[in-house]
Amino acid sequence: MSQLRYFGHSCFMLTEGWDSVIIDPFLTGNPLARAIPPDVRPKSILVTHGHDDHVGDALLLAKRFGGKVVAVFELAKYLEEQGAEVVAAHLGGTVKMPWGWVKLVPAFHSSTVEGGKRPAGHPCGFLINFKNIILYHAGDTCLFGDMKLIGEMAKIHLALLPIGDHFTMGIEDAVKATALLNPEFVVPMHFKTFDVIKKDPAEFKAKVEAETQTKCLVLQPGSSAELPLAGA
Ligand code: NI
Ligand code: MN
Repeated sequence: MSQLRYFGHSCFMLTEGWDSVIIDPFLTGNPLARAIPPDVRPKSILVTHGHDDHVGDALLLAKRFGGKVVAVFELAKYLEEQGAEVVAAHLGGTVKMPWGWVKLVPAFHSSTVEGGKRPAGHPCGFLINFKNIILYHAGDTCLFGDMKLIGEMAKIHLALLPIGDHFTMGIEDAVKATALLNPEFVVPMHFKTFDVIKKDPAEFKAKVEAETQTKCLVLQPGSSAELPLAGA
């Protein structure tokens, strides 16, 4: 069994045995996570875009534990300059990993570093095969019609979708995104961290389960779930 652990905001970690991957490791300074737990030692790090609430501790974790950072070319090069080992890839590309593979898929957003001063290439989402379980992490994005194509690339077990509005999709659009992706399960993310994105995940769960075939799991920051998720 694989373990999915949620740290709040858009930060998730997948672990099975010695394999582990963390996505958008915003831990230090994340009001929902606050600090890096001592047992977080990821072997791989995926970063959707350059904003601080997604890059987070990527550099620190990469340097401390030697894991490679997978990101879009410009962001990867920026992190490499500062001492991280990276895999610089781009949209449409699939990168083989020790635990499976990750495909970089589009996200409609921006990607900058240094507080918005320096562009960092295109933002992305990740279609992930971790130990034969397919997950989709949308990164920061609005709703877009090609989510239907992403849902056709592989049968998605679990979609991780932002619902916080203001910077990303809100609840209504995340329900539409779920319908396009048609995953077995959806977990909402990117809400509650800051006042401007305070949204109620129970409202998303009620709507998405009424309007789609997908089941919704609301994870509390700091909690974990076994993958694959079980029905009902
Ligand atoms: Ni962002
Ligand atoms: Mn964000």
